[in-house]
Amino acid sequence: MRDNAGGSWWRTAAIYELYVQSFADLDGTGGVPDGLGDLAGVRSRLPYLARLGIDAIWFTPWYPSPLNDAGYDVADYRDIDPAFGTLRGADELIADALARGIKTIIDLVPNHCSDQHSWFQAALAAGPGAPERERFWFRPGRGEAGELPPNNWRSRFGGPAWTRVPDGEWYLHIFAPEQPDFNWANPDVRAEFEDILRFWFDRGVAGIRIDTAGMLTKDPALPDTGNADTAPGQHPYTDRDDVHEIYRAWRRIADEYSGTGGERVLIGEIWLPDAARLARYTRPDELHSVFNFPYLSCPWDAAALRAVIDATPSPATWVLSNHDVDRHVSRYGRADSSFDLDARDHSQPVDLVLGTRRARAAALLTMALPGAVYIYQGEELGLWEVEDIPDDRRRDPIFYRTKGKDPGRDGARVPLPWSGAEPPFGFSAAQPWLPQPKEWRDLTVEAEDGDPGSMLELYRTALRLRRAHWSGAPDLAWRPAEEGVLAFARGDARCVVNLSASPVSLPPDATVLLASGPLAAGALPPDTAVWLR
Ligand code: NOJ
Repeated sequence: MRDNAGGSWWRTAAIYELYVQSFADLDGTGGVPDGLGDLAGVRSRLPYLARLGIDAIWFTPWYPSPLNDAGYDVADYRDIDPAFGTLRGADELIADALARGIKTIIDLVPNHCSDQHSWFQAALAAGPGAPERERFWFRPGRGEAGELPPNNWRSRFGGPAWTRVPDGEWYLHIFAPEQPDFNWANPDVRAEFEDILRFWFDRGVAGIRIDTAGMLTKDPALPDTGNADTAPGQHPYTDRDDVHEIYRAWRRIADEYSGTGGERVLIGEIWLPDAARLARYTRPDELHSVFNFPYLSCPWDAAALRAVIDATPSPATWVLSNHDVDRHVSRYGRADSSFDLDARDHSQPVDLVLGTRRARAAALLTMALPGAVYIYQGEELGLWEVEDIPDDRRRDPIFYRTKGKDPGRDGARVPLPWSGAEPPFGFSAAQPWLPQPKEWRDLTVEAEDGDPGSMLELYRTALRLRRAHWSGAPDLAWRPAEEGVLAFARGDARCVVNLSASPVSLPPDATVLLASGPLAAGALPPDTAVWLR
């Protein structure tokens, strides 16, 4: 791996999702720590990331933003939010990371911008019928006086997907009202984003994570949803056939740059249960890869996991957690360990001991599979979903727009614990933007560093051994195994995961490369994984 010169580095890379607000706060706005992570904080912790053994960092949005949706409401796509740093600081960070063998992937948000973006402000000022409004979806309302939204679409964050402006028109926002949707049928929008891609490729970024990649195009008639007969590819705003043309154009740009400094990659964030529809996005002239959300959503169950693994097309990615979902230590510690983005459920009790044991086994399973692996910051420390954040400290618009029915995503976004015995655990000299549980004193980097039983040391060892044994290995071949057990070989290495309730015996001739927990006399205990040779 560690190949900065070229080649398909992304096919087997270990990519660390770095949630900028919650990684490390060094200087904040005007040089004073403000409880919000920043680029100087990341730079100061690059040695930690290099030692972890990752190949690339995916930075969540770092652009100027009112942070109504944690930066996924972008006010300027060509700059850095002053709370995070400067453009020059980003250039330096990209170069510093690369000098340590770590590539940079940025997060691009093309479905919508912030309502503070200059284009949206111009559209508001210009009034009905103006060309500035054509870059968004402005429409008159329904009802006698236009008092009803133009259609029945619902915001993904709760409530209607339309907001009315003082002159009487409504605008579309699939997410929060502060996130107006772009009209991708408008040539200005296409040209603008192609230019933004070049802007960041010119700065040396190796990849682009594309937010909400399946929703950019809309049926211009804006029909009501709810028609069960909608043909694949013709939903009013999800996974429409006409979205692919955008990615073919983007791929041509990425390929232009790939000649210099290694391949530039496009990674789509697309939640789509239909594997065949999802695979269309990774046709050879489109995106390089998409996140494997079926794997993330899958319960801790051998048959279900095997089915997802078998259904995953190549080039594969493997993801256990990200900033939108409950952390997997908590998910795997619940009786129902599946995850549904639209039905987040914090009412189930969580067994953190069980969840942690399974998360350790899941890490070894994930890192042995053929493809790229994503690590969401904090999973390498074994952090859990923080479910008891006081309501008045919550920030996620999902919590507010559903009036608390959906707890939202703050619990997965709590700042990292670095050191010390109490909050803010070395994250900042100020109060962190979300409160950290005091129990995380046992999960700080300082506490786990050098402890052979810690999650951190498991991740460090696993990432090192993955490079040596799995990254270049052929596709997997399933091996016969007892019920509830996953066993496969890739080349001369084997991975066995016991998801059953009883210990299973291990082949007597095998050498253990790494185990996720103690092995008992040649047997693999429940909820434990092992790498063998
Ligand atoms: C997906 C992002 O991961 C999520 O955090 C965000 O709220 C939505 N897209 C809208 O941008």
